Amino acid sequence: MLVIGAALAGVGLLLGYRAARWRKDPSACPYGQRLWVELPRPFLGRTRLRRILAPQPGQRVLEIGPGTGYYALHAARWVAPNGTLDILDVQQEMLDHTMRRAGGLGLTNIAPRRADARTLPYPDDTFDVAYLVATLGEIADQERALKEIRRVLKPDGRLVIGEGFPDPHMVRFETLRARADSAGLAPENRIGGAPDYFASFRAP
Ligand SMILES: C[S@@+](CC[C@H](N)C(=O)[O-])C[C@H]1O[C@@H](n2cnc3c(N)ncnc32)[C@H](O)[C@@H]1O
Repeated sequence: MLVIGAALAGVGLLLGYRAARWRKDPSACPYGQRLWVELPRPFLGRTRLRRILAPQPGQRVLEIGPGTGYYALHAARWVAPNGTLDILDVQQEMLDHTMRRAGGLGLTNIAPRRADARTLPYPDDTFDVAYLVATLGEIADQERALKEIRRVLKPDGRLVIGEGFPDPHMVRFETLRARADSAGLAPENRIGGAPDYFASFRAP
């Protein structure tokens, strides 16, 4: 019994140490650990995302950090047939994985791009809506990324951010609101509470 207790305490300490290091030194969730992004999300589900994103057919939407496509494969359908979902990720494996799945589903309106969120390879005023889920906290300079997103949003375009526990990189809503404010993004709406939320902002 004592041995099991000590082992559990050891695992807890190790996880706590890793979480603290991740928070201090943000980095992309490695492709090899993609299992974490494939788990169901009771409070950060696609229905909630769709409600706050309010996507319209024909829009051009950007997802930064699609991972293996948990949201992207649905968002692409929400803007079909004439709309496009651009997906941008630092890891080519994540983009390839999402595109393989999209191909299997017959989706043809997803445009992948490998790049860093801090330097977006799109012209000003390109997107109607952008969204990031469980991604902002992995970006080393969040304010710079938010400013870049604001730049590529059309006037009056919208940004939706989803964040949730137990992501070690989770960005608390108050922190996000302050960073969004510095980037010139005005708060608009929020679904969920402190542990799991989607929040939307507008580029005035
Ligand atoms: C934890 S995963 C979340 C994936 C997906 N949004 C989801 O919720 O299932 C974070 C994703 O953001 C990407 N990412 C991390 N830092 C990035 C950066 N600076 N620029 C672009 N993508 C980044 C990672 O490669 C990964 O695909």
